[in-house]
Amino acid sequence: MSRVPPRNSALADRRVVVIGGTKGIGFATAEAAMAKGAEVVVASRDVSRVAGAVERLGARASGASLDIADAEAVARFFGQIGPFDHLVTTAAHVVRKPLLEADLAEARASFDSKFWGQVNAVRSGAPLIRAGGSIVLVSGISSRRGIGTMAFPAAINGAVEALARSLAVSLAPIRVNAVSPGYIDTPGHGGPERAATLAKVAAAIPAGRPGRPEEVAQAILYLLTNPFSTGTVLDIDGGHLAA
Ligand SMILES: NC(=O)c1ccc[n+]([C@@H]2O[C@H](COP(=O)([O-])OP(=O)(O)OC[C@H]3O[C@@H](n4cnc5c(N)ncnc54)[C@H](OP(=O)(O)O)[C@@H]3O)[C@@H](O)[C@H]2O)c1
Repeated sequence: MSRVPPRNSALADRRVVVIGGTKGIGFATAEAAMAKGAEVVVASRDVSRVAGAVERLGARASGASLDIADAEAVARFFGQIGPFDHLVTTAAHVVRKPLLEADLAEARASFDSKFWGQVNAVRSGAPLIRAGGSIVLVSGISSRRGIGTMAFPAAINGAVEALARSLAVSLAPIRVNAVSPGYIDTPGHGGPERAATLAKVAAAIPAGRPGRPEEVAQAILYLLTNPFSTGTVLDIDGGHLAA
């Protein structure tokens, strides 16, 4: 893919690492950062998905296969890639079942991937972030809106938002923010109930439709590039919290 990077962009020639950047919101973020002139490294578990994403992103992209829940693998990954400017962590696989029905092993694995995974990425990645760099963590609307099937994602997302605020203080001058998506039409919303859930949400929120991955990517790019934004949790939910 040939793109002429804009020379006046805050992301021109910056190196952006997106763990979870092979699909959904992460892939849209990688694409948007590249369109602003960044060099992008994407990582996720599935080797062929990584290869496909790198091919679609083009020459200024590279990738690696990685499970964000595996702290040692995450440390090796950052050891191999070296210094960079911005970290985005969209990788997660979470159980969506009411607390009384969920399998606890699955619930713990959800914390391993989405909460501890983001902790792993920050612990190994932050020391490599260059001056002026930043981190965007990903939470989700269930942290502040009760949704019956989302007991565990709710707890994880609340923890991620608290973590982002604390890290904004302890890691300064690295800026740390979180983006909190509402219902976004991504492959992550798979399964038989997908269409029904998205239609129900669309009818209930001011935007009248689910979000698009590119719309969350745009919010993430804002947080990466606004020099005065740190410790922020940015909702991008089509008005869902307000409704
Ligand atoms: N979509 C929504 O409506 C919504 C709403 C609120 C919050 N969120 C949050 O937004 C983030 C992105 O969601 P999405 O909908 O874009 O997800 P998605 O479409 O399922 O994409 C998830 C990405 O993360 C990777 N991944 C999953 N588990 C991983 C692991 N353990 N290690 C490394 N990579 C992993 C996947 O690739 P591999 O399979 O190759 O690993 C894929 O690239 C998640 O934190 C999600 O909870 C999404």
